[in-house]
Amino acid sequence: NEGRFLMREVLTVVGARPQFIKAAVFSRHVRRFGDTLGLHEFLVHTGQHYDDNMSEIFFREMDIPTPDVNLKVGSGTHGKTTAEMLAGLEALMMERKPEIVLVYGDTNSTLAGALAASKLHIPIAHVEAGLRSFMMIMPEEQNRRLTDHLSTWLLCPTDTAIKNLRDEGIKDGKGVSRPSPDKKRVVNVGDIMLEASLYYREKADVKKTINEKYGIKGSFTLLTIHRAENTDDPTRLKSIFTALDTLSERTIIFPVHPRTRKIMSDIGMSPGRHIRMIDPVGYLEMVALESECDLVLTDSGGVQKEAFFFSKPCITFRDSTEWVELVETGWNTLVGADTDAIITAVRSSRRPAEHPIMYGDGRTAEKIALELVGGTR
Ligand code: UD1
Ligand code: UDP
Repeated sequence: NEGRFLMREVLTVVGARPQFIKAAVFSRHVRRFGDTLGLHEFLVHTGQHYDDNMSEIFFREMDIPTPDVNLKVGSGTHGKTTAEMLAGLEALMMERKPEIVLVYGDTNSTLAGALAASKLHIPIAHVEAGLRSFMMIMPEEQNRRLTDHLSTWLLCPTDTAIKNLRDEGIKDGKGVSRPSPDKKRVVNVGDIMLEASLYYREKADVKKTINEKYGIKGSFTLLTIHRAENTDDPTRLKSIFTALDTLSERTIIFPVHPRTRKIMSDIGMSPGRHIRMIDPVGYLEMVALESECDLVLTDSGGVQKEAFFFSKPCITFRDSTEWVELVETGWNTLVGADTDAIITAVRSSRRPAEHPIMYGDGRTAEKIALELVGGTR
């Protein structure tokens, strides 16, 4: 295929649930417009997430191209799994010699992809660059800071992210024709998860999910918990569940992350009957739940934003968030793991009157692709 030689190859690294959702948007764009843009994607799954309902279901339901390679790294300690990803990705990058390596977000798969590429002098595009929680104890904060500093294209979702980078001395190289790790391209391309939610909300079958599959009657609250700070600390986890148990006037639907299910079972926690624990759901069911619930309770990064996309108030079991604009506009309330603060926030939650535009125009994939081919400079 002669055309292939005129193409730039982007090697994209995914591995964890939120990355499949982000990849769904960009990979679809490249499959559709790649020939015109001169971009070809080689998709690598590290295997960080591997249960059917944490991985395969997203590829099936969201029409994401099957990964060209799955490194099947699986679970383990941070050092061991990141090292295995690094070795596997390095070998692949040496073989494929891609022009660009693209990574999403802040997981161990993100860092492994960035580090492997950086050592081989392959320019890195980081989607969701510049986010900060200012809590280095979080594995995600370590991953995103390191990745940003190694990257060439810092594709930010918000102006706050641009400012965070500036505060660390990372600025746009202003008109530089070929950006590099030393003369970076820093740009706000909007939030890729907004684009995902706009596209897939049309495909979600709300009635089938809410009425037929889960038989939910009346109003309900949606809950997710999986952050290491909450699950690895039994005091925090118990404090959160003491509050949730008290809120028995609500029906709470809780798709449980495998990490959380394991820890709850290990410490013998069984929440009240108004909290309905279900297996992790695919994105289309998640979108249906988010669009129908009355309130979102979470410690997820992505779910905080999706609550806003679906105009639902959100209460977040964290002490800080990267998505500060949600707190500033009243759509999100941070409560940490404090029992009383959680109860008070839930009982006084309300939907703010204003729903401002804060995450771009929903055309993030197109902007990313144009950046990578130099079309915006
Ligand atoms: C990871 C990311 C986190 C992201 C989350 C999305 C890191 C450091 N953390 O956290 O930023 O928010 O993914 O969901 O990269 N497990 C299974 N089956 C699976 C996957 C995981 O049983 O398919 C269990 C295993 O017991 C595993 C545990 O979950 O040890 C944690 O998985 P891991 O990928 O290490 O971290 P997450 O908590 O999923
Ligand atoms: N999600 C999902 N099914 C679930 C829980 C979450 O599809 O059971 C989606 C959610 O809608 C969001 C993404 O997964 O798009 C967020 O991932 P997660 O909370 O695992 O990670 P984070 O965003 O905190 O990194």
